[in-house]
Amino acid sequence: MNVLLTGGAGYIGSHVVLSLMDAGHNVHIIDNLSTGNESIIPKNVKFTNCNINEESVISDLIKSNKFDLLMHFAGFIQVEESVTKPEKYFENNTYNSIRLFNICKKNGLNKIVFSSTAAAYGSVSDNKLIDENTSLNPQNPYAESKIRTEKFLFDNQDSFKFIILRYFNVAGADKKLRTGQISKRSTHLIKILSEVIGGNRNFIEIFGNDYNTHDGTAIRDYIHVSDLADIHVEVAKYLLEKLESNLFNCGYGKGFSVLDVVNTANKIYQNKIVYKFSSRREGDVEKLIANTSKILKYINWKPKHNDLEEIINSSVEWEKKINASNT
Ligand SMILES: NC(=O)c1ccc[n+]([C@@H]2O[C@H](COP(=O)([O-])OP(=O)(O)OC[C@H]3O[C@@H](n4cnc5c(N)ncnc54)[C@H](O)[C@@H]3O)[C@@H](O)[C@H]2O)c1
Repeated sequence: MNVLLTGGAGYIGSHVVLSLMDAGHNVHIIDNLSTGNESIIPKNVKFTNCNINEESVISDLIKSNKFDLLMHFAGFIQVEESVTKPEKYFENNTYNSIRLFNICKKNGLNKIVFSSTAAAYGSVSDNKLIDENTSLNPQNPYAESKIRTEKFLFDNQDSFKFIILRYFNVAGADKKLRTGQISKRSTHLIKILSEVIGGNRNFIEIFGNDYNTHDGTAIRDYIHVSDLADIHVEVAKYLLEKLESNLFNCGYGKGFSVLDVVNTANKIYQNKIVYKFSSRREGDVEKLIANTSKILKYINWKPKHNDLEEIINSSVEWEKKINASNT
């Protein structure tokens, strides 16, 4: 496959670049490095530093390369920031994405794999796992900005063939430590606890201990980023072969509370993690766990890294590596 990939200098995109290259496919990255980092782009990958809304640059790229599909990761991802700056999120995640899709269509590239989020489901009141038919109930502008982009694709099914992937909580790092999460502004639990273990933070703040869960802290379904990356390779094959649009949840179908994660890390790292409780964060939801039956049925994929200790370990090892390179 020959893939045009936006956001390849970011956390998830960079892992997908590796999975594609490891499987022998070609990748061309577009990224404006607004939150990404050029150091995690492999030397032998083509890279264009531009915004996803730059029509002339992207049109020229598509004209001079025979891309089979677009994988679109570029976007802003900070839920809390989206609450205070919603327009920033609608501008980049919705309008820029739609501009990009239209540029692609104009130039004959109409197959898309799009990164969406389980935050689209919001909080679900009963104890059921979340399947793809669960009604959407976004609790913040970030989730809403993603749903609007999905809606554009659903409304334009005649023009595009697409796969929408709703990621649950993505964590961990490449086993060979070729890439990982770099952002210092990350709000991801496992990244933050890796920073505590690595000595770059003193403690973890746990937002809310009064949720209706077994220990009062919020529950999430953590998927290893390398498993998620492999999903992209397989859904791309599915899209090119079946030429049929679809939507899949990406998770393991198993939930861990914040305290479950912290306790697991404390078991491995000899109680290094100090935590403090504070009040719930605006926009956060109680519990998000995927029903994964659909992806397991349609896509030739099985998890290889679905072990919380492995996820935490890989993230901590990556943190040590970036710490060492900063000293
Ligand atoms: N990380 C998660 O847990 C998670 C969960 C659900 C969905 N997602 C989605 O996955 C995608 C990737 O997330 P991530 O965690 O890798 O984020 P990230 O911030 O690490 O990567 C995003 C990349 O996109 C680039 N970018 C942003 N806006 C751009 C623009 N206008 N033009 C060109 N490049 C631009 C950034 O420079 C960065 O390299 C996002 O769309 C996000 O909404 C992530």
